[in-house]
Amino acid sequence: MRLRGTMSIDQRGHLLIGGCDTVELAHQYGTPLYVIDEAALRQKAREYRRAFGHYIPGSEVIYAGKALLTSAICRIIDEEQLSLDVVSGGELYTALVADFPPERIYFHGNNKSPSELAMAVTHRIGRIVVDNLHELKLLQEIAAALGAEVKILMRITPGIETNTHAYIQTGQFDSKFGFPLGTEETMAAIECAARRMPNIRLMGLHCHIGSQVMDLRSFGLAAEYMVGFMAKIRDELGLELEELDLGGGLGIRYRGDDEPPEPEEYARIISQTVTSACSELNLPIPKIMVEPGRSIVGEAGTTLYTVGAVKDIPNVRRYVAVDGGMTDNPRVTLYQAVYEACLANKAAEEPRDLVTVAGKCCESGDVLIKDIMLPPVEPGDILAVFSTGAYNYSMASNYNHLPRPAMVTVYQGMSEVIVERETYADLIRLDRIPPRLAASRKTAAEITKSAAAK
Ligand code: LLP
Repeated sequence: MRLRGTMSIDQRGHLLIGGCDTVELAHQYGTPLYVIDEAALRQKAREYRRAFGHYIPGSEVIYAGKALLTSAICRIIDEEQLSLDVVSGGELYTALVADFPPERIYFHGNNKSPSELAMAVTHRIGRIVVDNLHELKLLQEIAAALGAEVKILMRITPGIETNTHAYIQTGQFDSKFGFPLGTEETMAAIECAARRMPNIRLMGLHCHIGSQVMDLRSFGLAAEYMVGFMAKIRDELGLELEELDLGGGLGIRYRGDDEPPEPEEYARIISQTVTSACSELNLPIPKIMVEPGRSIVGEAGTTLYTVGAVKDIPNVRRYVAVDGGMTDNPRVTLYQAVYEACLANKAAEEPRDLVTVAGKCCESGDVLIKDIMLPPVEPGDILAVFSTGAYNYSMASNYNHLPRPAMVTVYQGMSEVIVERETYADLIRLDRIPPRLAASRKTAAEITKSAAAK
């Protein structure tokens, strides 16, 4: 087992994160519980800023909010002076309400609606990353109607296939995202944006090749293709673009033996590639942006569960069932993700039993970890699953009407709730019963009273 961030094990054999005993956190806040190691998150944000500031002065690190976005996370990202990438009106709203400076917000997405675009233009956010021709025309119309000038990047698919799960590859030509690199239609769209759209200001290009990418060469290749394309745009259209956003995608440690590259190595390879490609093509070095999501919050998150049923099927396997599952972490069923875990209340004990950790949803596929060695597991133990900071809460659902877990930050021995646990009442908050069906409806108070009487 590899400890992440500020994790340690105390003399009672309990797992501590941010100086807080996770067993106590589980009892205090209930489970499942998302725990965010605030120091680890801030540390990653700082590593990114330092690395990119050092290797590529003037560059910008943009946190990809799709990985994890809550109001408090927006505040932390702002305090760490990162910019923010949002992909929907909902994410934009969250950021604006959390008072994130609009000029540091980038808006992505392959099908932004007219109202989402209008919201972005009205709030004068930093850049809109335009994905396709339809959006480009729509944005010009909206900006003209609002009398605004909008700074944009155009999203390009560079034609690179990365070595990651097919669902999270995005740089290949056959993709729903972006303009394919170098085609006549793309060149025409770029010229149109730069020269024929009075309310649009084309600042540069964007690409994103995929997520959980461990091989830095893919990023180098993308940078090389994109700089080459910028040179083609200069040569054929006479346009010198100022900005190049290379997207996110750096992988993290899920299993103990994963060795993800550090932000420092990532910044170095991008800097080297961009510098040498630009000098070869006699192009001024553009302003570089990157958009890491997972590699900032992923390893800072741990999910705590309480073990319930433990079931042995002799000569087959031992199932350990926990009180969450695919509802709070859909990544195992979606991408066959492999997670590492420990028993938070027996963290110093030798792992001796091979078990499979199952969730509580009515699906055989709701398995969180297939085959993991743990100390002997008993009902009531607290299971801590590591590296759940990214794409867990943000992809959580209420399947089987399970309320979504609470989230706390831990920092220097102090824990604070940043997302409340959903209640049963939250689950039906938006339900409506048309009058023709309204014959007998119990109030929440009646339900609670009759449950208490039993
Ligand atoms: N920029 C763009 C345009 C993106 O589409 C993404 C991720 C990022 C940045 C951030 O990528 P990151 O640094 O987090 O890898 N739900 C999947 C991941 C989907 C990623 C979508 N785009 C998962 O759980 O693996």
